[in-house]
Order: sequence, then C-alpha cells, then structure tokens
Amino acid sequence: MASSLDAHLSSECGSDPLKRQVADTIRNLCSASVKLRNKIIAGGEGMGNAHGATNAGGDVQKELDVVADKVFLEAAEASPIAFFGSEEQDEAVALKLDAPLALAIDPLDGSSNIETNVSIGTIFSILPVGDEHRGDPASVFRQKGSVQLGAGFFVYGPQLLLVMSMGNGTHVFIFSPSFGGFVELKSSLVLLDKAKEFAINASNYRHWDQPIRSYVDDLLAGSEGPRERDFNMRWIASMVADCYRILLRGGIFLYPGDGRKGYAKGRLRLVYEANPIAFCVENAGGLATDGTTRILDIVPEGLHDRTPLVFGSKREVERVARYIADPSALAERSPLFGKRSLFRA
Ligand code: AHG
Ligand code: MN
Ligand code: MN
Repeated sequence: MASSLDAHLSSECGSDPLKRQVADTIRNLCSASVKLRNKIIAGGEGMGNAHGATNAGGDVQKELDVVADKVFLEAAEASPIAFFGSEEQDEAVALKLDAPLALAIDPLDGSSNIETNVSIGTIFSILPVGDEHRGDPASVFRQKGSVQLGAGFFVYGPQLLLVMSMGNGTHVFIFSPSFGGFVELKSSLVLLDKAKEFAINASNYRHWDQPIRSYVDDLLAGSEGPRERDFNMRWIASMVADCYRILLRGGIFLYPGDGRKGYAKGRLRLVYEANPIAFCVENAGGLATDGTTRILDIVPEGLHDRTPLVFGSKREVERVARYIADPSALAERSPLFGKRSLFRA
C-alpha cells in the first residue's frame, strides 16, 4: 500500500508549528479538490457556460470558475489563512486576521477546456504573513515567490492528482476513492535535463519578438537545423497538464509576452500561476524564468500581475535566455546554422 499524503505531510513537518499549519491547509485544499472533482464528474448543465462577468484579468468567467472559487474560499476559511487572493476576485479577501498564512489561488486553470472534457486544474501558493502585512492585505501578495512555504496544483483529468512541494522535493499524490484520500504516486520528481518536447501556443507566432521566433524556428528545423535533433510539440492549453507532463518526461513550456494588445507580459499571472509552478519545477531540479529572470526572484507589484513564463528542463530554459540576451549572436546565426557554439545542442 502506497503511503498516504497525510503520513507524508506529517513526516515532512516534524514538530515545526508553521509547517504543520501549511500541511493543514494542504489537507483542506485536498478536500476541496475532491468536492470540485465530484462537481466536474457530475457535469452539471452549463459548467462551461459564461457566468456573465469578467475577472480582474479581463477573462470571461465561466460557471465552473465561480464554483471553484467558492469551494476553495471555503477551504481557506477552514484553514489558518489570513488573506485569500484569487484570480476570480479583484482584491484580496481578509479572513482570520491573526492567522500566519496567505493563500493565492487560480481556482480553475484551463477554463477554455471545461466543456471539451480535457484536463483542468487548480494552482495554489501558500505564503507567510508577517505583522507588516496585517494593516495592508495587498502587501502580502507582493512577496517574491522564493518565500513560498508550500505550493502545488491539482489536475482534474482521468485521475485526480496533487503535485506539491513544501521546499523539499516535488511529490505527486493520487486520489484513491477506495482509500478515501490521496496516496503517494511519485516522490521526489527529477526533471530531465534534456528536452525532447516543447509547449507553446504557436498561433501567436506572428506576435512574438524575434528571439522567441528564432528559438522556435530552430526547434522546428529539428535534425536539419542547429539543434541537430527532432522535437515534438504539445499544447494542452491547461498549464497544469502541460506542467505535469514536463515534470514526468522533461521538455519546455513557453508563454512569452507578445504584440497583442494587453499581452506585453503574456497571459499568465505571476502570483497564483507562475510562482507555484516555478516552485514545483525548481524543487524537481528544473528552472522557471520570465525569459531571463528567475520567476521566484521577481517582486510582484500586485495580486494580478502578469509575467512571461518559460519553465521546464533547466538547460533548455537557459538556452531561451541566451536567445533573448544575445540578439547580436542571433543576427549572426548562419542560415546554414554554422558552427556557433551558442545555439548548438
Ligand atoms: P485560466 O483558465 O486560469 O485563465 O488559465 C489558462 C492559461 C493556461 O492554463 C494555459 O496554458 C493558457 O492560459 C492557455 O492560453 P491560450 O488560450 O493562449 O492557449
Ligand atoms: Mn490559469
Ligand atoms: Mn483560472
């Protein structure tokens, strides 16, 4: 019998009181994820219908976005959470004012996939709350991602999975209906250093800056290009599902900034999407950047900040940074792909 999430959390926390509160929060998030998964399975009419409002990021909310937000707000209320910051709420919500933690959440990731029965998810980030944050709730979400105490995501797919890290490796748990809880599926993931697959919404090619176009051009050129090997492409449009695949078999995900109105920093949000994904990816030995800067070092200006996001196999993410940082070398990139070491595999 695989060990339970509960046992894992207890052993990871020892007697550290703050870690125990993080663990209790994760337990409550797990109960909420099972509730949400049951609603998804029940497939109530209109889950993927527009709810009739837009969220802070300007996205049209679907019924399931709103349901998910409510389910996870209830979990936060039952947890040692002082402030709840959600994609679906304009401002941070104050809960237990003397509690030690804050929760930032994307209650439903992959909204565009709801009605097509493709995997969707929930992404969460657990942050410390200091006395300096109590008078100014927004400030708690202006802490950089490196201070996260725990982070992870659920995937509502053929299986209900939890991928999570408390800073000591990234671990995967699967919901077992017969057990009635989550059990360990994979512990201490190790993200492969060599990427064979890439994930990007290539329909935006014409809107990208030249370094991203050149990077993707070189991947597409495959064995006939400077990389001298072929790459496969995958784009699920649910970052949770793309991230899980990359954690299991390596690869790279990019959502760069582009030239469309409102997309200068891409589409993804720093505090409740990029930071928790970066935390899990780094704890598995991978890397996450905004193209050049480590995601976990960026100081957010607000809860709903966007950021370009590149994550996955470390060497591949570092390669993207070289394309961006050295456009002069790019300009010299030979059409015959020459022998420049910078861009060779
Ligand atoms: P959300 O549903 O929370 O708005 O996030 C969706 C995100 C992410 O999961 C996915 O990778 C990306 O948006 C899809 O973007 P495109 O629609 O541009 O493919
Ligand atoms: Mn999302
Ligand atoms: Mn969402």
